[in-house]
Order: sequence, then C-alpha cells, then structure tokens
Amino acid sequence: MVEVIVESHLSAVTFSCVLGISAAARAGLNVCDAISQRLPSRKRYSITDVRGRGSYGVVLAGRTDEDAGVVAKLVNLSSATGMNVLGEPWFVTDIKSFRREIVMLHAVALGAPGIFPEILDACVVKGGAGVSFGFVLMRDVGTESLHAVLASGRVGARRLMQVCAQLLKSLHASGFVHGDLHTGNAICEPPHVQFVDTSRTVYFGDASVDCKVAKLYDLTVLINSVDDIARLDSMLLCSQFLQEYYGSSSAGVAEVNDLLCTPEQMREKREEFVRILEKTSL
Ligand SMILES: Nc1ncnc2c1ncn2[C@@H]1O[C@H](COP(=O)(O)OP(=O)(O)O)[C@@H](O)[C@H]1O
Ligand SMILES: [Mg+2]
Repeated sequence: MVEVIVESHLSAVTFSCVLGISAAARAGLNVCDAISQRLPSRKRYSITDVRGRGSYGVVLAGRTDEDAGVVAKLVNLSSATGMNVLGEPWFVTDIKSFRREIVMLHAVALGAPGIFPEILDACVVKGGAGVSFGFVLMRDVGTESLHAVLASGRVGARRLMQVCAQLLKSLHASGFVHGDLHTGNAICEPPHVQFVDTSRTVYFGDASVDCKVAKLYDLTVLINSVDDIARLDSMLLCSQFLQEYYGSSSAGVAEVNDLLCTPEQMREKREEFVRILEKTSL
C-alpha cells in the first residue's frame, strides 16, 4: 500500500518516488504541502493506492476524513514529458484541457447529475524548473472500466450497452457531449455505469450542426471501442444500442453502417471533432 497523506509533511522525494516523478524531486517541490495549501476546501485526503494510469492521468485512490472513497487524478502540466508510475512516458496535459476538465465536471454535476463522478477539489501545484501538476479530487465510482468488464464476459455486452445508451441519451439531452467516450472512460459496477474524463467534453447551447456531429461522434467512439466487436454480432449490438438511444423500435441498416467504422474513418471523425472542440470556448 502506498501511504501518502495530503496534509502531511512527506518530503517531495517520497511523493515523487511513489509517483515516479523524479523531475519533481529534482525541482525540490514538496507536492503534499503544496496541494494542501491550494485545495479550495482545505480538506484532508489520504491517498492509499495507485488506481490506474493513462498516458495523461495518474489516478490515485484514497479516502476523506469521513472515510468516503475518493480518487485524485494527477496530470502533468510541466513543460516536458515525465514518467508515470510504471516508468512509461507521462505526456503533458495542456492547461486549457485541464481547465476544461474541471469546469465541465462542475457543469455536468449541475446539468446532468449522476453521469460523472462528483468533483470535490482541484488545484494546480507549481514547482521550480518548469515542473507543475494538476490535481482533481473526485468521488471514487468503482475499480473496473467498462472495457475490463466487457472483456471478462461476466455481463452480456447487450445489457451494458443498453445502460450506456440511456446514460448517453440523458447526457446529450442536457446539451453535453462527452468527446472521448471509449469503454476505458466508463466505470462499470454491473449493472451501473458512470462516465469519467471530461477533458474533451463540450456544452452546446443549441442544436447546431456541430452539436449533431459531436453527438454522433460520441455514439461512434463508444460502439467502435467495444473490443472484439467482430466476434460479437456487431450489426445486432449496434442496432440495439441505437434503438435504446433513439427510443425507437428499429434502427436502419444505413444508420448502423454509418456508426461502424474502419480505423481510417475513425481517424477522420476524430479530426472533425477536434475542429469542433477548438471552435468552442468555455
Ligand atoms: N472518479 C473515478 N473513480 C474511479 N476510477 C476513476 C475515476 N476517474 C478516473 N478513474 C480511472 O482512471 C482512469 C484514467 O482516468 P482518465 O480521467 O480517463 O485519465 P486520462 O486523461 O489519462 O484518460 C480511468 O480510465 C478510470 O479507470
Ligand atoms: Mg481517459
């Protein structure tokens, strides 16, 4: 177990070793002190374990004083790529994307409650030598991704995708588009699913063409990220997913074919979405 108390006086070196952030140690940054000073709530959190890591986020599991489960997502806002807990490259997150993540976590909590984890705190910690981190503390919504649960085969893909379609429908009805809804960005404690990662989330105030394209992009990313979709009956799964989302009794073959993409088509759709994202301001 990793023992890091946010309000303790653990040295930068201890914290840095835990996270594999040698740059922080070199910069003499006492991350724990720095976080406790900057968290808006001044609450005390204990970080107990490393939950997971992506190319951008290192996610630590912990608890509050009241013992409720929390996770702290750390992003590297430094000027250079670092190393994550496994010694893999830890890419730099652009500050604009970090801000979007926080603003959108607050926005969805108000506009579309229950779909994403509750946000508890967030701060930026700056050290010397261009080293800085972003921290977002959220409610812990579970240990397994939808990707892992689908891969385990414990629960049928059809049932889980129905739940996702319902969640996505209410997110979209509230004007939000997730923007990166692959199965790794959904946490699943069957039969419940919650979405995470608002770094590409957009709010549309009206039903513009961009909004429609972006909503379709969410559907496309999700359905195409279901692993081994070729082994499942992809047409059927996709059609049932669309029926659930649109609340209709059938989905046309053309609609289904539009959604199932080759990697090249997926790349084009991603580029189109990024253009939309870049046009939107917070
Ligand atoms: N609130 C949360 N509760 C439980 N697990 C979470 C939570 N937020 C993130 N995770 C886990 O950490 C992983 C990485 O977080 P994510 O926000 O997706 O980072 P990245 O920006 O690197 O993709 C997620 O895929 C998920 O498994
Ligand atoms: Mg993610």
